Amino acid sequence: MQKVKRSLWIPVICAAVSVASCGVGKGSENDSGVPVVAGLPDTVTFADIAPIMRTNCMPCHREGQAGPFPLVSYNDLKRKAKTARKMVTGRWMPPWPADTAYSRFTGERALTARQIALFAKWVDQGGVLGDTSALPPLPVYPDGSLLGTPDAVVWLPDSFHIPGDNRDRFMIAKAPFVLERDTFLRAVEFVPGNRRNVHHMNGAMVTYPPGGKKDPLQPSGYIDADSTHSVDAYAELHLQNDDGTWPPLTPNMVNYLPGLSPPLYPPGIGGWRVGREGAFLLNTLHYGPSMRDTVDHSRFNLWFSPTAPERPMRELAMGTLGDSPVEPELVIPPDTVMMFRSAFTLPKAISLLTINPHMHLLGKSFLAYAITPDKDTIPLIRINDWDFRWQYAYTFRHMLPLQKGTVIHVEAVMDNTTANRNNPYDPPRTARAPLQGHMRTTDEMLQFFMNYVDYRPGDEAISLGR
Ligand code: HEC
Repeated sequence: MQKVKRSLWIPVICAAVSVASCGVGKGSENDSGVPVVAGLPDTVTFADIAPIMRTNCMPCHREGQAGPFPLVSYNDLKRKAKTARKMVTGRWMPPWPADTAYSRFTGERALTARQIALFAKWVDQGGVLGDTSALPPLPVYPDGSLLGTPDAVVWLPDSFHIPGDNRDRFMIAKAPFVLERDTFLRAVEFVPGNRRNVHHMNGAMVTYPPGGKKDPLQPSGYIDADSTHSVDAYAELHLQNDDGTWPPLTPNMVNYLPGLSPPLYPPGIGGWRVGREGAFLLNTLHYGPSMRDTVDHSRFNLWFSPTAPERPMRELAMGTLGDSPVEPELVIPPDTVMMFRSAFTLPKAISLLTINPHMHLLGKSFLAYAITPDKDTIPLIRINDWDFRWQYAYTFRHMLPLQKGTVIHVEAVMDNTTANRNNPYDPPRTARAPLQGHMRTTDEMLQFFMNYVDYRPGDEAISLGR
């Protein structure tokens, strides 16, 4: 798995032809989604609800953020009470697809059963204001960076004009840089210029060998992944060395989703070598639909490390174009629901840090677990209701050691029927994995990325939370 055989063609483009809006229509109108919880107050007031809203809604639902309206004040919530109830009891909001009954991660945004029940009861009782004198002041959010002041900032060379045509866009772009010298990176954060419209971003990094590219800052603009085939798209980005070869790629290095803090691992753990000349490759830059013309100008914040990371970040990619095949071959005939698997045996002991399941529009559910040589099962992640719009990179609460010989299993269900709201075709068409270099936007993928470091005794006690 250490092979650096992977070329630039890791198509993490998860473009979509048509996109249903967030979770509307999911679940029934009845109350089966409301957990039965004992000991709720007879009258639920805003004082019970405000802490839930402030912690779990406000990070995205406030001025300038991704949520389509603010959820900050009593009136904000009162106005949206009915839809909010539906989204909360249907587990669509806050968006957190991973099943917290299966495994736990840092920065989880899932509500507890009690919180959901409180929320529903408050709405059902008409949204009582009650006594708010004891409410703590509103939280203050940092501007720009979630991690603090960066050591350097790499801007995209130009801004992107988002037309107000109310459609999703999946762009690829690059943010080239020339640093003072080769050095090391401790953390990278993507900061959207327009948080309302940037829905997600998966980024990688290319590193130019000395003299590999005379003009590493060569401009390229933004390329629509939906209207071009990816081979051409990458070439249009002018990412190659001058001799046409592809520079080394650090895949899946930085992920952005609204409300997600980038992981900041303990000192010495993770981190990358970064060449003097290189570029961040925005492999998918997803703009959500906008009703009016607007502009985005995003950037990357960098934190350097003076010394090489003691335990550098390594990556394992299972599934499509990765280090373990998908079985059976990823071909999904129309009107079928199928299970696909992939398994990988660890040739050495590792400690997992962050994992990232990836599928496209036909994904229905995703499960990953590990089986040790002693036949113990270690749960990794379960997503019961796949939503391609919320593809988080999940960081474990503590480093998760896996011994040599452990088998990592991935099981994913794909739904190519019309019952799948996100199916790009009606009637459905055969979907398959992309051939190397011939990625189409409606191709299906099954990938599981894992960031890890080589195992050291005691790792299980090392916390990754902040
Ligand atoms: C991680 C960011 C995030 C958090 C946290 C979050 N939301 Fe949202 N919410 C969004 C985005 C973005 C949308 C727009 C639809 C989409 O992109 O999925 C949305 C849409 C909604 C909608 C409109 C759904 C529709 O289509 O009509 C409601 C209602 C809602 N959120 C309620 C909540 C409530 C209540 C909470 C807290 C319990 C919450 N949200 C937490 C990001 C968030």
